[in-house]
Amino acid sequence: MALFKWVTWIFTFHLFVSKPISSNASLSPHELAQIPKNFLESAKKPEIKDWMVGIRRKIHENPELGFEEFETSNLVRDELDQMGIPYKYPVAVTGVVGYIGTGGPPHVRLRGDVEPERPQPVEDVLQVHIEEGNTERVLQVGSQLGEAEKGELITFLRDNKDVFAWSTEEVSGIIVLVFQPAEEGGGGAKKMLDAGVLENVDAIFGLHVSSKYPIGAVAASPGAILAGSGLFEAVISGKGGHAAIPQHTIDPILAASNVIVSLQHLVSREADPLDSQVVTVAKFQGGGAFNVIPDSVTIGGTFRAFSKESFFQLKQRIEEVIKKQASVQRCNATVIFNANDRPFYPVTVNNKNLHKHFQNVAGGMLGVQNIKDFKPVMGAEDFSFFAEAIPGYFFYVGMKEETKGQFESGHSPYFRVNEDILPYGAALHASLATRYLLENPLKSTLPKGSHHDEL
Ligand SMILES: *[C@@H]1O[C@H](CO)[C@@H](O)[C@H](O)[C@H]1NC(C)=O
Ligand SMILES: *[C@@H]1O[C@H](CO)[C@@H](O)[C@H](O)[C@H]1NC(C)=O
Repeated sequence: MALFKWVTWIFTFHLFVSKPISSNASLSPHELAQIPKNFLESAKKPEIKDWMVGIRRKIHENPELGFEEFETSNLVRDELDQMGIPYKYPVAVTGVVGYIGTGGPPHVRLRGDVEPERPQPVEDVLQVHIEEGNTERVLQVGSQLGEAEKGELITFLRDNKDVFAWSTEEVSGIIVLVFQPAEEGGGGAKKMLDAGVLENVDAIFGLHVSSKYPIGAVAASPGAILAGSGLFEAVISGKGGHAAIPQHTIDPILAASNVIVSLQHLVSREADPLDSQVVTVAKFQGGGAFNVIPDSVTIGGTFRAFSKESFFQLKQRIEEVIKKQASVQRCNATVIFNANDRPFYPVTVNNKNLHKHFQNVAGGMLGVQNIKDFKPVMGAEDFSFFAEAIPGYFFYVGMKEETKGQFESGHSPYFRVNEDILPYGAALHASLATRYLLENPLKSTLPKGSHHDEL
């Protein structure tokens, strides 16, 4: 997700159904249309908004990396306890799954992301700035990171919950809140999926903040919106020696340099120009002195594509090009994809029917002129695992507001959140889930011995 302005929050509502819905008949079209407006009004009330802001800041003060969100997870459970919401824990290490509702069908599921947006440990980011030789900035960024890095997602969920509690009587059913770990490269969504959190779920919604669109606007589109994504790392081995006596060495710096240039030809010469793909080498590590040729160089990067075929074709060619191009300079190379069991992220595809649902709900709340077309980008998102398994919908909530200065993108060290958008995200989730329940006949059946027994 590095390039873009997205964001920090990912919330998802999963809708779950076990028996025919009855509540639909009791609400008129006018009443249905009122739901999103009511949610927004409610979420903007100072007592709810301040509560959201307070939680967000608390999470920000304690950044944690993927699958290590222990304090964040505690915080989520504390809040759930305070609200008397039953939950399951742990799911996928630090994940939490909460349940709210009347206990009858249908069942709605909500998912939040408990990991901060930035993937790098703080030290890595500091290192980058040190290498830039700007030590003053290092300190500044360091303190901003502590502040800016944290806890975006959960706040929303909690919000949603409060807002949901407000309307629980209107919806007969259960809302399942899924707080997932490790969105940022770790594929926490996949682990949640493997743990069965989507069983009997009919649909899922997720959101992300965006500094590209103004507050009060949202952006979304049907179909593929984000790329499939993979990581590669290669060690190119030669023979080190004196930089002034190259004939006694096998120079891996030169070999790696040629590898990088050759990798650029995969997209420019082998891919269909109308089929968007990316190969980026973002890491080059080798050598420590200006007069010594090192034994080896490590390079690493990411590759992206909008179809499975293109993705796996790229993967195969990346490996071939690295090994064969390295051999031109007498080096050997080993290539590893997605080290440490990280999964490849599938393409994120928005369901077309859910797009209509989103337009109805968000259009009713914000006005159709505030629903912007989202142009697909090569970023990736592990929401794609959910949307691959069941109908899913991922959208962006604008946070640009001229009077508050520039809002930087989600992966910038200068990222900050426009806290005034919290009510929008919360109300959108709440409305999408509620209206979905009210308007969609139930399809699935809960398994026997359902885990909803605890309700
Ligand atoms: C490359 O691998 C071959 C086969 O294992 C080995 O003989 C050779 O020394 C290696 N070359 C380098 C530069 O490591
Ligand atoms: C109620 O549900 C039925 C399907 O069961 C659907 O056709 C109808 O549009 C729904 N009514 C409203 C007001 O959404």
